[in-house]
Amino acid sequence: MSHEDSPLGAGRALGAPAERREGHLKVTGRARYAAEHPMPERAHAWPVPATVARGRVTAVDVEEALRLPGVLTVLTHENAPRVAEPDDPTLAVLQDPRVPHRGWYVALVVAETLEAARAAAAAVRVEYAVEDHDVTLTADHPEAYEPENVNGEHPTRREHGRPGGADAAARVDVVYEVPPLHNHPMEPHASTAHWDQGHLTVYCSSQGGTTVRDTLAALFEMDGEHITVIAEHVGGGFGSKGTPRPDVVLAAMAARVSGRPVTVAFPRSHLAAVVGHRAPTLHRVGLAAAADGRLTSLSHEITTHTSRVKEFVEQAAVPARVMYGAPHHLTVHRVVRLDVPTPSWMRAPGEAPGMYALESAVDELATALGRDPVELRIVNEPEREPDSGKPFSSRHVVDCLREGARRFGWDARDSRPRSRAEGPLLIGTGVASATYPVLVSPSTAQARALPDGGFVVRVNATDIGTGARTVLAQVAADALGVPLARVRTEVGSSDLPAAPLAGGSSGTASWGWAVHQACTALAAKLADHPGSLPDEGISADADTTGTADADSPYARHAFGAHFAEVAVDTVTGEVRVRRLLGVYAAGRILNARTARSQFVGGMVMGLGMALTEHSTMDAAFGDFAESDLASYHVPAHADVSGVEAHWIEEDDPHLNPMGSKGVGEIGIVGSAAAIGNAVYHATGVRFRALPLTPDKVL
Ligand code: MOS
Repeated sequence: MSHEDSPLGAGRALGAPAERREGHLKVTGRARYAAEHPMPERAHAWPVPATVARGRVTAVDVEEALRLPGVLTVLTHENAPRVAEPDDPTLAVLQDPRVPHRGWYVALVVAETLEAARAAAAAVRVEYAVEDHDVTLTADHPEAYEPENVNGEHPTRREHGRPGGADAAARVDVVYEVPPLHNHPMEPHASTAHWDQGHLTVYCSSQGGTTVRDTLAALFEMDGEHITVIAEHVGGGFGSKGTPRPDVVLAAMAARVSGRPVTVAFPRSHLAAVVGHRAPTLHRVGLAAAADGRLTSLSHEITTHTSRVKEFVEQAAVPARVMYGAPHHLTVHRVVRLDVPTPSWMRAPGEAPGMYALESAVDELATALGRDPVELRIVNEPEREPDSGKPFSSRHVVDCLREGARRFGWDARDSRPRSRAEGPLLIGTGVASATYPVLVSPSTAQARALPDGGFVVRVNATDIGTGARTVLAQVAADALGVPLARVRTEVGSSDLPAAPLAGGSSGTASWGWAVHQACTALAAKLADHPGSLPDEGISADADTTGTADADSPYARHAFGAHFAEVAVDTVTGEVRVRRLLGVYAAGRILNARTARSQFVGGMVMGLGMALTEHSTMDAAFGDFAESDLASYHVPAHADVSGVEAHWIEEDDPHLNPMGSKGVGEIGIVGSAAAIGNAVYHATGVRFRALPLTPDKVL
């Protein structure tokens, strides 16, 4: 039976809840991931992490490792292939003896089997010249500085108006803390590399294979035509696979040296140090409001860390520039370079921690004013984007708040803290808003009509579990005006038309725009081509460079609202989320099933951020204490119940031909604040450091 037959006929594909096309392959174990390509003669490699937090490698003794059975070679900074200096310095692995943080790779063992490689890695003896390290972030750290800009994307500091508001009816001046967090995708980072007569083929678990290819081409100083990067199925990334990681460089090096296909699959225990993390953020939020609830002053100042390797700044003060206006408005980022692993993207970088702090502080202001937190947000709804002054392409946060309040039953709430109890449980509810920018990048794509009436769409999109290949088929079917079942999509290979990464909630918009353009051009060609098609069919290519523009006269963001109900156990300190409701305004929803999965997935990640997820930087050793999924607790099924995602129809003509905004990240934005606000409502105690684990709550 084809699930794509009747309801998804011509012109009805877009928005339909089409099932993931690779779903069956995945649940039957036939979908193959990057480490699962058993080529003949394939070898395995196991990396050796540095055991000091700062210093230099002075000697590597590989003799014992090389004597072990099955060991092919050991690469170190002394004998590894030299690569060109990468744009991303975290990829300069085994190039010099420097140890910039604990866990930095200092050697790689290549062996016949995974077990042999792992055993030999344990036998590699590394000596270091150790230097003093500092891995402790404090808000008043003497080396804190304001970066020149925030990751090249945002100004570090913005200030409008002057401090004032002395006559405010209420004010809050509070500090919030979000700990380091780790992405921990289900599939750890892995690459299988193979050199064959000068052509490098890599199976890589990545959110963007085109970037991996271009990066390898630069590192190994070769033409991108001689490299194929395949990322057919990816078991999650959440930003940690948004850029190439050391696994792909190490695999390519090991394969070149050994002359064999080589798989490098990072063990989960290494991930905390080598594939990025959400940097901790220390927030100071100041809000002042007049008696009518309108903000007279808003300041959001954050301090975060980065590594000695490169500057990455968690852009946590950025969402305050979007959400609320005030006569005095200050947002600023500070960063400290520490001897820590390099932080990077994790789902909604900036927005997730920033909106946790801001939306918690807004809740505190509502309490101080004695106003309902939904109404306080509505009173402060800006006409234009506060920081830029641009009109919004569309902004329906008020509709999300009202629709969420209606579905949640918010109006029946007794606003007094500690007003609901069930035996030893205190019950509370909370709300927070959500926002995430509309991002888009140029892409290319090709559409082909075949003589048998089928269509093939080709684009190097990456399906990281989102359902990208399915949604792109829907975009194509819609543009062609044909039933969905007649469209096949090819994604996940750098031999396909080049495309940007699956990140920033921009994949569908970016790839879809090119797919739409290719299909529209193909439809026009077909209209001029009566009669049967040639054997190879006819095709049309698209390139949205110059069209899919990140710049717009409009401020473009998705918005939403989260509502949470929690039960706090006064005996154990355990917080349980009973209900979590999200309502979103994210443009046109292109696939109701997969979009819902994205929203719910983000909300669950927000639940983890609120209650269980954290990494602890060990000041003495300089590494993260949590190195597995037992100590870093990602919500399991028992933690998640009553999660609901809804959306309102939004017709925004300023986006892209599909009218979509992106749905991958907004679910994590504000959901932790809604839960924290519910915990305050339940207990009457304001906890300002995540996660809200029993030891804090008791
Ligand atoms: Mo997402 S953190 O942009 O992959």
